[in-house]
Amino acid sequence: MQPPSTPAYHAAFPVYPKNKPSKNNPAKNHPVRGSLLGIEHLEAYEILALLQLARRMNPVKARPLLRNKRIVFLFYEASTRTRTSFEFAAKSLGAITTLVHASGSSIEKGESIIDTGYTLRAVGADCIVMRHPSAGAPHLMARHLDIPIINAGDGMHEHPSQALLDAFTILKHKKSLKGLQATIIGDVFHSRVARSACHLLTKFGVKITLCGPPEFVPEVAATLVPGLRVTRHLEDAIRGTDVIMLLRVQTERLAGQKISLQDYVSRYQMTAAHLKLARRDALVMHPGPIIRGLELTADVADGPQSVIVDEVHNGVPMRMAILARALGRAK
Ligand code: NCD
Repeated sequence: MQPPSTPAYHAAFPVYPKNKPSKNNPAKNHPVRGSLLGIEHLEAYEILALLQLARRMNPVKARPLLRNKRIVFLFYEASTRTRTSFEFAAKSLGAITTLVHASGSSIEKGESIIDTGYTLRAVGADCIVMRHPSAGAPHLMARHLDIPIINAGDGMHEHPSQALLDAFTILKHKKSLKGLQATIIGDVFHSRVARSACHLLTKFGVKITLCGPPEFVPEVAATLVPGLRVTRHLEDAIRGTDVIMLLRVQTERLAGQKISLQDYVSRYQMTAAHLKLARRDALVMHPGPIIRGLELTADVADGPQSVIVDEVHNGVPMRMAILARALGRAK
């Protein structure tokens, strides 16, 4: 059976009047104020406001800014730290939360993203935090719903909350972003983390070098934002850098590409010897999950320059700020 065409379909379901395009429905084409879909189109002042708000958030001292607000975590992809930290962030602000995972929900029965969104809105969701394997999925949702949508990672596109918590982490160790040299090493092509980081850091004057084999860092990657540099040589990438961001090899997105992991390890793995080429106070970052022995050695992961655990920790106040802003409680 063919699904009914869109206008008739909506007419047959008057139960969702809020979502029907109307003069009063601001979600007709534009995401609702407070949505966070990506870093690319955020202004520097909006990013700074979020970073400042995160500094005032204390996950262990509850503030009921979001009391009785219902937040849905709609996850079509695996997640540990992003989901947990969003959930703890929401709960420490007093929100009511629920998790919808692709397996075990109507998504498995073939329901579309938009219909799932309408359903969540109809049960009373005030905000949806969404992770999806397709780029643009949260943007599509945001065009159809009149509640804020937060992108928790859309395919190979953006991961805005990760870029924000990374900037927050860097600023805990460095006075300013301006003038810093950052190096992103690894599977840049498949990485929404790298994409969002490039957008954010270049807005604040960080000089970025991308490093990896052509399969992971194609020349075209340099065109993402002005001023990016690409190198294939790890030593050249690390020398004198202030921030090293390592990325996981995203085997789930390689789609038949043949990459020799052994080759990758021998040319690009971050070891203690390589790390010595960076500035003495260089930070080692990784969004996680880390694979010890692949993109980095265990001694680098656990070493004094590593802020990997700190990044995860900072995810909670950063996401508290994102949710407070989303629901108009940025105090
Ligand atoms: C990343 C993701 O899912 O985009 N992890 C995260 O959210 N911290 C990176 C990855 O999976 O490699």
